[in-house]
Amino acid sequence: MARKFFVGGNWKCNGTNEEVKKIITTLNEAEVPSEDVVEVVVSPPFVFLPLVKSLLRSDFNVAAQNCWVRKGGAFTGEVSAEMLVNLGIPWVILGHSERRALLNESNEFVGDKVAYALSQGLKVIACIGETLEQRESGSTMAVVAAQAKAIADKITNWDNIVLAYEPVWAIGTGKVATPAQAQEVHAELRKWLRDNVGADVASSTRIIYGGSVNGANCKELAGEADVDGFLVGGASLKPEFVDIIKSAT
Ligand code: G3H
Repeated sequence: MARKFFVGGNWKCNGTNEEVKKIITTLNEAEVPSEDVVEVVVSPPFVFLPLVKSLLRSDFNVAAQNCWVRKGGAFTGEVSAEMLVNLGIPWVILGHSERRALLNESNEFVGDKVAYALSQGLKVIACIGETLEQRESGSTMAVVAAQAKAIADKITNWDNIVLAYEPVWAIGTGKVATPAQAQEVHAELRKWLRDNVGADVASSTRIIYGGSVNGANCKELAGEADVDGFLVGGASLKPEFVDIIKSAT
């Protein structure tokens, strides 16, 4: 089954009202391949979700950057999956390495979050990836397989999941993975899906790359057989995000 190219823009904890409007104007005026060719999802901080949803062109979608692990209630500071659904937000990013590292989100907790978000009807960009130390010790595949397994253990349907391979050493560092490095892990992950989940899921699940993707390096990465798109951080705040979307063709 053909996998539609996917480009996500993770704005992280950035932006003012004015900056958000400026980014949206740039995106709305951009000429990009049609939504039959590329799926574009931007992920502003929670507080800007309604604004972005109301202003953004209709062929692009919106994602939250996190949601609570279970039904909402007495969980101060959290935002529930139900709330996102109520606001008409279709996507959520879960398991980002910044949350795994800074907020101690374990593989199991991320798996629970993914399962709950899916159960409420959200689509999930699920992030996995190894640290530099793990890569240098040769455990990259074991680490990403364990992260993928924690998700696979909790869900039965992969239709609404995009898997984002984001090596921690490449995030925000300017040290992008080489196309060969990205392809190697993506191909291994697809094999892992085939062996542990099923052939259909392996061939249909989009595996996107994140970590210092920019307008200059996206095209070469996009040329790899198992790179089905990108999750972009810093460059998603800049006009070059449009070039990254165009790398779909
Ligand atoms: O979610 C996005 C990734 O953390 C990549 O961030 O493009 O700034 O390296 P970056």
